[in-house]
Amino acid sequence: MAKHLVPYGCILLITTALALSPPSTAVDPSEVGSAARYDSPYTPNACRYDEERLPSGGLFGAIDQVLWNKGSQCGTIYQVRCISEAGACLYGTSINITIVDLLQKTVSEPSNYDVLFALSSKAYGLIADPAKDSIKIQFQRL
Ligand SMILES: *[C@@H]1O[C@H](CO)[C@@H](O)[C@H](O)[C@H]1NC(C)=O
Repeated sequence: MAKHLVPYGCILLITTALALSPPSTAVDPSEVGSAARYDSPYTPNACRYDEERLPSGGLFGAIDQVLWNKGSQCGTIYQVRCISEAGACLYGTSINITIVDLLQKTVSEPSNYDVLFALSSKAYGLIADPAKDSIKIQFQRL
């Protein structure tokens, strides 16, 4: 019986080591996730920006809890690029958005699991078809 415990322990160690090893290619610092759209009113928000302090160009968004980092993301800028299929994405461009809020989402919806950003309707409309509920994005904190 004891003989079986040793290999099992080894397997556990190997599995743990694999799970903890960093991603193999770290050349591109951008990450991939999904983004949804959210509409006004944009106040009140978790960053306590009133109408006057919201970015004047309307390019802002909310960020998910997993990236929120206790509010330290307020005011940071993310470059967001739509990488969904052609048709869902417009122009193939990227935009820079300022984080102004914590993303609230319905965790019970599986389709929301990888939604990491909600973009203002202005921002969303610049990179995606507004009729799409969500898009796949590549993002990078600037
Ligand atoms: C976003 O910001 C980066 C870094 O400042 C800049 O190089 C890029 O041109 C900006 N993109 C847009 C669409 O403004």
